[in-house]
Amino acid sequence: MASFHHFFIVLSLLAIFNSAFAAAPAAHNITKILEAYPEYSEFNNLLIQTKLADEINSREPVTVLVLSNGALSSITGKHPLSVVKNELALHVLLDYFDAGKLHKISDGSTLSTTLYQTTGNAPGNIGFVNITDLKGGNVGFGSGVPGSTLDSTYSKSVQQQPYTISVLEISAPINAPAILTAPAPSASDVNITGLLEKAGCKTFASLLLSSGVLKTYQSAIDKGLTIFAPNDEAFKAAKVPDLNKLSNAEVVSLLQYHALATYTPIGTLKTTKSSISTLATNGAGKYDLSVTTAGDSVSLDTGVDTSRISSTVLDSTPLCIFTVDGLLLPTELFGKAPASAPGPAPETSPSPAADVEAPGPALESATASSPLSSPAPPTSSPVGSPSKGPTADSQNITSENAAGALETPALMKMLLTVSVSVFASILMF
Ligand SMILES: *[C@@H]1O[C@H](CO)[C@@H](O)[C@H](O)[C@H]1NC(C)=O
Ligand SMILES: *[C@@H]1O[C@H](CO)[C@@H](O)[C@H](O)[C@H]1NC(C)=O
Ligand SMILES: *[C@@H]1O[C@H](CO)[C@@H](O)[C@H](O)[C@H]1NC(C)=O
Ligand SMILES: *[C@@H]1O[C@H](CO)[C@@H](O)[C@H](O)[C@H]1NC(C)=O
Repeated sequence: MASFHHFFIVLSLLAIFNSAFAAAPAAHNITKILEAYPEYSEFNNLLIQTKLADEINSREPVTVLVLSNGALSSITGKHPLSVVKNELALHVLLDYFDAGKLHKISDGSTLSTTLYQTTGNAPGNIGFVNITDLKGGNVGFGSGVPGSTLDSTYSKSVQQQPYTISVLEISAPINAPAILTAPAPSASDVNITGLLEKAGCKTFASLLLSSGVLKTYQSAIDKGLTIFAPNDEAFKAAKVPDLNKLSNAEVVSLLQYHALATYTPIGTLKTTKSSISTLATNGAGKYDLSVTTAGDSVSLDTGVDTSRISSTVLDSTPLCIFTVDGLLLPTELFGKAPASAPGPAPETSPSPAADVEAPGPALESATASSPLSSPAPPTSSPVGSPSKGPTADSQNITSENAAGALETPALMKMLLTVSVSVFASILMF
């Protein structure tokens, strides 16, 4: 008998370790979950197209309020994809709600933070959803903006992975007029250099104009474009090679290296594991980049150096513009060794950068840009705060930081599994 018990304990320990390690990464895949339900196929397609799926997969806890194909048609027919994306982002709650929790909301009403709040374009309570326990067992959903009506109700539970992801069906879209009526200029009308100048990237903007690469960017927009714009400070860094020594063709490659031919918002960058091609990638050179993430901090590694993404200037499908804190130096132009600054430092010869600098760059500091994913607290406090809030101390990207980040939900799950299994073993005795 005793040996049987030992055998059982070993088995449960094995199970514990198995589940603990399987649970460590954010293991949910919203695309896969929704694939099993044809009635949500439209919703699923839109999450893929807008890349919201990546954002959902990189967060926990998260609750997705899905709409059936019929309920969704009231928004998709009337609005461009960039607006639909914002509207759907309002249907992703950064908290875990299952049927039980919905009916146990303290005081009967709460505000939950949504993914839309993390865009930085959500003044007031626009990025919050009001969840109210109504009489008769119904639960209502509405915009968090005071005075909004509860225009949607809870229909049914679709699927849950406890405390990581919950998928619930609601009856109708949550109506946030400010999102649906926001002006959505077509991406090809966006004044790229104008936005870059406002975001503190004057030097980069003028290089794009003088080199003609701006035209390359513009003609790529319709199929998707992501720009990594170094700020004006980045051009003054000591590591920056003398750009006057580059040929015109090399300057073009360098600038093309600062963009991707795809719409790649921050959530997608965070879930990117393989290296990514840039506009400079061609037969002769790879000109690729790799991405490292630590908490909310995302960095681009060129093989020569690493630069951190500091803000989102624009995220509007199919165009994304980020600022980065360093010039991206491809190995194809600058070799493996950190910025070979051969012998004499050319202090006297001003780089093209210096020519175009405005008198007071500090005044122009990124007013148009928003800090990355920093959900501001609402006036009334939401139930539970987002697990991936701003992490001011995660700026230093080291592999240590990245690897050591065993998330609390995973830890809790592990402890839970341990206690349940131990309890089960005790019962067996
Ligand atoms: C999620 O699931 C979809 C469909 O099954 C699959 O195509 C996709 O590669 C998965 N994503 C990840 C990150 O595993
Ligand atoms: C949610 O909306 C209802 C109805 O408009 C309102 O009475 C309630 O105060 C709101 N709850 C919160 C937390 O704002
Ligand atoms: C874009 O903005 C810049 C700076 O504000 C301005 O000089 C330029 O004329 C604008 N271009 C277009 C096409 O509107
Ligand atoms: C980042 O962390 C590493 C390792 O802890 C340390 O050596 C390095 O000086 C830090 N860099 C900055 C900029 O704080």
